[in-house]
Amino acid sequence: MADLLRESRFAPERGTGHAGAVSTLDWSPTTWHDHVAAQQPDWPDEGALDRTLKQIHALPPLVFPGEARDLTAALGEVAQGRAFLLQAGDCAESFDAFSAASVRERLRIILQMAVVLTYSSGLPTVKIGRIAGQFAKPRSSGTEVIDGVELPSFRGPMVNGIGFSAEDRAPDPERLLRAYHQSAATLNLLRSLTKGGFADLAQVHRWTQDFVAESDEGARYEQIANEIDRALQFMKACGVDTQSMPTLHETNFFTSHEALVLGYEEMLTRRDPLSGQWFDSSAHMVWIGERTRQLDGAHMEFFAGIANPIGCKVGPTATPAEVVAICERLNPQRTPGRLTLISRMGAGTVRDALPPLLAAVRDSGHPVVWACDPMHGNTFSAAGGHKTRRLDDILAEIAGFFAAHAETGTFPGGVHVELTSDDVTECLGGSHEIFESGLGDRYETMCDPRLNGRQSLDLAFQVAELLRAQR
Ligand code: PEP
Ligand code: CO
Repeated sequence: MADLLRESRFAPERGTGHAGAVSTLDWSPTTWHDHVAAQQPDWPDEGALDRTLKQIHALPPLVFPGEARDLTAALGEVAQGRAFLLQAGDCAESFDAFSAASVRERLRIILQMAVVLTYSSGLPTVKIGRIAGQFAKPRSSGTEVIDGVELPSFRGPMVNGIGFSAEDRAPDPERLLRAYHQSAATLNLLRSLTKGGFADLAQVHRWTQDFVAESDEGARYEQIANEIDRALQFMKACGVDTQSMPTLHETNFFTSHEALVLGYEEMLTRRDPLSGQWFDSSAHMVWIGERTRQLDGAHMEFFAGIANPIGCKVGPTATPAEVVAICERLNPQRTPGRLTLISRMGAGTVRDALPPLLAAVRDSGHPVVWACDPMHGNTFSAAGGHKTRRLDDILAEIAGFFAAHAETGTFPGGVHVELTSDDVTECLGGSHEIFESGLGDRYETMCDPRLNGRQSLDLAFQVAELLRAQR
């Protein structure tokens, strides 16, 4: 594939100017082919893959450079301690469970959490979904064995099927096209929901799902919603024309995913005619996963050249020198908001592992956003075989993250969580406690266990308290 892409007329041209962090004299959307790309599917039919990639290359961009720049600016505020980041959504989006309701429900819980965070902390919340493109998964093993049968691992719906048959598990490039089209439809709906009335602050009461309304968290949320109502009425009574203030009726909501399958990302990388910069138009923000952050690897090379705001996961094996080198490689110009480091240490490890990394980045002068992913270091298999996480561990990692920042004098910039607003039973604990024996009741995730609507609101209240205490 590499040769075909490089030589064909659809290989993007090189030229002068600036990409993301590097000069385009040295970088193009194809230069990642010169590096080892971890976690790529083993496509059985290269010809079919190339034909599909060509089709994707001819399709319109999904997001626009101006939007990505707005997100960099908003994250720049986070880097400087003036805003907080909430990045949340599915571990992997599903093709089968895709519907208007499923998009609306994920947006709804993120809006509710943002209201809680902003109302309690007084800081603006930058909202980014793991949505409209989160279709590929890295795996710890390339194959899975069940009853002596070995098949390729499930790598997310944009690569293969989750069913355990040779047919399901064969990587199929048609799935890349389907991921593109579902991303486009999702983005279209998100844009209309966030700009067309659903996200209106006058609607805060309507964002609560019935099963959440009955809970303690639901009651606490209702209190805030009532106070917001009163504040809006007060402004009106004082003669403020709230009707004509778009900031009260619309919201900015951005999309993100792990840019894992580099062929797909390359095809959606387009040059902005105004600035000459390259943008990966598949999402506003993309991140590098814990398994693909090798400094000399293909993902680093690709990310160094795109001008989007980008993230990089940082797990417990990362050394201070490595993390500073990641900052140098991905953000040599030291643009605030360009780079978000997403730590995912585990509740028992964060207090020891994180402070040296925070101190090293602080001393290097790199302006990063530090976000806490309290999910991926706290996953285990329950007795019944379900992959799960304890809400208590998740909250403990967030508390450890805040404590580590207090110790180094750095800003705990945000949280990165896997959730849904639905009444699923995938993570243990919560005020309406989910026990191991109940995990099977509504275990619906495609990949990792998500917080349900109640657990998510609970988390938002606890983060809001930590943030208020920190300020
Ligand atoms: C994820 O975010 O779903 C993920 C796989 O995380 P990590 O790369 O941190 O393991
Ligand atoms: Co996950």
